[in-house]
Amino acid sequence: MYIHGKTIVVVITGGIASVKAVRICSALVQRGADVRVVMTEGACRFVTPLALQAIVRTRVISDIFAEDDASVIAHIDIADRADACVIAPATAHALASLALGLGDGMAAAALLAIGTRVPVIAAPAMNRHMWANAVVQQHVATLRARGVVIVPPTSGFLACGDEGTGRMAEPDDIVETVVHTFAHPLRGKRVIVTAGGTFERIDAVRGIANASSGKMGIALARAAQQRGADVTLIYGTVSVPLPERMTCIYTQCAKEMANAVFAHFDQADIVIMAAAVADYTVAQSVDHKMKKTNVPLSLQLVPTIDILAALGARKTHQRLIGCAAETEHVVQYAREKCVRKQCDAIIANDVRICGFGADENEVTIVTRDTEVALPRMPKTELAHRIWDIIAAEEGQ
Ligand code: CTP
Repeated sequence: MYIHGKTIVVVITGGIASVKAVRICSALVQRGADVRVVMTEGACRFVTPLALQAIVRTRVISDIFAEDDASVIAHIDIADRADACVIAPATAHALASLALGLGDGMAAAALLAIGTRVPVIAAPAMNRHMWANAVVQQHVATLRARGVVIVPPTSGFLACGDEGTGRMAEPDDIVETVVHTFAHPLRGKRVIVTAGGTFERIDAVRGIANASSGKMGIALARAAQQRGADVTLIYGTVSVPLPERMTCIYTQCAKEMANAVFAHFDQADIVIMAAAVADYTVAQSVDHKMKKTNVPLSLQLVPTIDILAALGARKTHQRLIGCAAETEHVVQYAREKCVRKQCDAIIANDVRICGFGADENEVTIVTRDTEVALPRMPKTELAHRIWDIIAAEEGQ
């Protein structure tokens, strides 16, 4: 029932397991999905596009230059329609091309256009030595870090005559993974994530900033979107690109961020305050550029509103998650913060370990009575692990 009416793009790349893609497409169609098939030239040698077309009843596309319908660009059109994408089988070449962002051919271009906006599920299939090759594993790790769900190959008799790990997972298991994606507890939830640093103006050209890159918040926003949530990203100063096709609201200072968050809070189900919000702002900023003098200058700073604490006091049904960058007694301080700001959990990290702006982090998710430590990993992957924990509580 979860995939009924959903458009699922099935990308078939060239390996003997391509023949099993017929069963995957058939099972998806039987569950009411609108299945769109993209095949590589290699896949077309193993199984005919006509066979797939007969099952899915839509035009199978494979040649990037065969633009049959002049009103659309086929690989963009199919990407725009996708609610999810399955790459089955995913050859070593397909994994590498996706990891590296190569867009040669219809399948690769469609996958690039789909990006990580919707869930992407890949079922690799290849010889066991190829699967074990470090470079293949590296590409798999890169894709996982970006949120691609890998349905790992199983062990058994391989077409090349070898025994080992490399067989594509069973079609039923791949279909179940797709269904599970749509049954995810975050699907349809309204999520607010704040990210980046705030900037408190001193004068027309100066201000008080901080070193937040926004990487963790943006990774959390993107991961929630991939899990089907309706995400609003409220961001300040960030050093990484914003997610596509997401409502992204820029705010400059703590006050603006507070207003934007408050405006969306009542409709939200989950809020993660990952932004590094200034604790103080300049009492009286000026609109012109201040001229320098040779006498000391004092700025009077006044406390900003604590957005997280205000949300804690105001929340009704929302789940509220704060963040804490500490340098000592990480869990203890995070727990105190959790109670003080009336949060459901705090994502705490020791800034001495990874620091601001890094691509990796390690965190502990602290509630009033539990704590779960997640080891150091890329922030993109960490975001998914954090959602695994937060989403597990949804609906309970
Ligand atoms: N936060 C907020 N509004 C502020 C300041 C912080 O919403 N004006 C949020 C951050 O987004 C983050 C959490 O509060 O989720 C971090 O709290 P922090 O400011 O680090 O802790 P404090 O309460 O200031 O305590 P301490 O200075 O003791 O760490």
